[in-house]
Amino acid sequence: MLRLFINYRRQDSEGYAGRLYDHLLRHFEREQVFIDVDNIPAGADFVQALEDAVAACDVLIALIGLQWLTIADDAGQRRLHQWNDFVRIEIASALRMGKFVVPVLVGGASMPSPTDLPEDLVGLARRNAVALGHHSFAYDVDKLVAAIKDAVPANESFKPRPNSETLRRKDDALRGVRSDVINAVASPLYTCRVENGYFPVFGEGSADANLMFIGEAPGKNEAKQGRPFIGPSGMVLDEMLGVINLKRADVFVTNLLLDCPPSKREPTPEEIAFYEPFVNRIIDIVQPAVIAPLGRFATSYVLRRLGLAEHKGKIGELHGRLIRAAMPYGYIHVVPLYHPAVVLYSASQKELLRKDFEKLKVFV
Ligand code: URA
Repeated sequence: MLRLFINYRRQDSEGYAGRLYDHLLRHFEREQVFIDVDNIPAGADFVQALEDAVAACDVLIALIGLQWLTIADDAGQRRLHQWNDFVRIEIASALRMGKFVVPVLVGGASMPSPTDLPEDLVGLARRNAVALGHHSFAYDVDKLVAAIKDAVPANESFKPRPNSETLRRKDDALRGVRSDVINAVASPLYTCRVENGYFPVFGEGSADANLMFIGEAPGKNEAKQGRPFIGPSGMVLDEMLGVINLKRADVFVTNLLLDCPPSKREPTPEEIAFYEPFVNRIIDIVQPAVIAPLGRFATSYVLRRLGLAEHKGKIGELHGRLIRAAMPYGYIHVVPLYHPAVVLYSASQKELLRKDFEKLKVFV
């Protein structure tokens, strides 16, 4: 399922934006077309909020009317040239993220020259524009939609519904990995598993989930039952899933370590190295469109695995970001999140976690 973002300037093309939106709804579902980024909460970083909204879309339609370039503020400065201009931030983010960006000319406007554009929008001038004529509006929108569907065939944020054969194949493949984990006698945590009568915790959920969560390591509760996130952190995870109207069965939940380390300690590099190939296999089978690593260990693993070294950073800086990444099976999004256990240590973190989870709504 494609997602489109209509970028427009109110004073320049509000009417056209509304008309285009209505026409696009003949080709797409309502939830596929974004027209306004609203509800940016007080105190939030609005640049980040706009970037996140753009990141969740596959296509940005930049509506350009007669005054698009020249509208100025009270001081006579062109809005498009100001650092905090929403229109500019959205287009520049889409260009930077490699989204499919289409300039769409309305009201008889023509394409601005690169020399008239701020540096981060120059790439827009190289895109082939589509004009929407007053009398040929419907026909022109049909052409625009065909061009978009041609250029962006694959869905990046949703997977098609699997057929029963795909599900069976994936379930079988996951069973194969599970059995290898059970027999992983070379694991640095195998002795701990046996001595405590623990089970390995492989992960559970839909074998073809759109959304995969990767935690740090199972705790005692989980190892006693062989199921992920069933203790206090699991209660927080369930509550957060409820925020986005999902249940465990809709997603796949696993961990970076698939056995419980002793004394609630952090994973060691040796343990991570041992379990990584298993987790890699799980990802390759499920092929999620969105991976949400929970906490710093899982985040660092996912960024490393996806070759996203440039996003290195503390979880405090990365949480809630939507990062686009290439997998052999297509483009996906990575959304690092705080580990649900943060809420157990500091109740005030719950609101932060909830807000970050809300960002996943666009993928649900
Ligand atoms: N914490 C984790 O990281 N994973 C679990 O499964 C439970 C708690």
